[in-house]
Amino acid sequence: QKKVGLVGWRGMVGSVLMDRMQQENDFAAIAPTFFTTSQTGQPAPEVANKPAGVLEDAYDIAALSQQDMIITCQGGDYTKAVYPQLRDSGWQGYWIDAASALRMADDAVIVLDPVNRAEIDKGIAGGVKTFVGGNCTVSLMLLALGGLFEQDLIDWVSPMTYQAASGSGAKHMRELINQMGAVHQQVADKLNDPASAILDIDRQVADFIRSSDYPCDEFGVPLAGSLIPYIDSQLPSGQSREEYKAQAEANKIMGTTTAPIPIDGICVRVGAMRCHSQALTIKLKKDLPVAEIERIVADHNEWVKVVPNDREATMQQLTPAQVTGTLSIPVGRIRKLSMGPEYISAFTVGDQLLWGAAEPLRRVMNILLT
Ligand code: HSE
Repeated sequence: QKKVGLVGWRGMVGSVLMDRMQQENDFAAIAPTFFTTSQTGQPAPEVANKPAGVLEDAYDIAALSQQDMIITCQGGDYTKAVYPQLRDSGWQGYWIDAASALRMADDAVIVLDPVNRAEIDKGIAGGVKTFVGGNCTVSLMLLALGGLFEQDLIDWVSPMTYQAASGSGAKHMRELINQMGAVHQQVADKLNDPASAILDIDRQVADFIRSSDYPCDEFGVPLAGSLIPYIDSQLPSGQSREEYKAQAEANKIMGTTTAPIPIDGICVRVGAMRCHSQALTIKLKKDLPVAEIERIVADHNEWVKVVPNDREATMQQLTPAQVTGTLSIPVGRIRKLSMGPEYISAFTVGDQLLWGAAEPLRRVMNILLT
């Protein structure tokens, strides 16, 4: 069995990855070693009834070099610190990474196999040893629109995103809930009094959200009761880094970098827990009937699901509340826009930790094992 080292398996993405690997019995096919940045020598978790052994040091290049494959969810700083040393030591194994540090490197393939299995296979055949999960928003959009991209029907896309707290990290998810609770606490007595005036409640909430008592150390500004129309760092282009990734990564994933499809929009953090949503404005290369568009979208992969553009179906099926914790990729609100017959709208939701982060990693591991 191939030796597979796991790093960062206790963090949020790592924990989701571990769960999925256990659900799919992935551990039965590998000899796992668990690495740690802080608890070397302590007992490792037992998986698939294998002898658990102890945790190894995630900075020990010699120990890492023993592995045929390393999967890391430890983050970009770890990758930057360890990956160059490991490669310089002559290690030829497969490096599978959730962090963005190596994503755009020429010798790395971004993995999303339902969309780019051919690119992955081409990379493996060409000796690529580094496979990196894509940005969550990009992966979720490509799974949703994979059929239209595959058939080269898209002239351009503008994704306007509604991104969940989890994209910022576990502490941010906690903070969002604390914010919600703190807001409620401020006005709980007035809410219980049917005679209270809503504008008084609103004023009190607004004052609290703007006050220094509102808990926002992680986000820096309020999220619950508000939103944040900027994600990641600022770039000279005027885009946020999150917005830049849409076109750059999507075209790299699809192997279309020589004639990139324009993909650009505004990325917004909203008070959802772990599902990213995106409102998509799409210019098609030709005028197609909506039913045909829906068929192409639905036929692309087994996770995408077209939700009819119907009020009740949309409200029941096309929400973070419904999708969270699942691999489902619903796409709805597909209709022609008044700009012309080639312009359509769509709305999609996906779990940012599953298809957006963990799932492509375990899938490429299995591809590399065969
Ligand atoms: N950058 C994404 C976000 C998450 O902030 O929502 C990871 O891809």
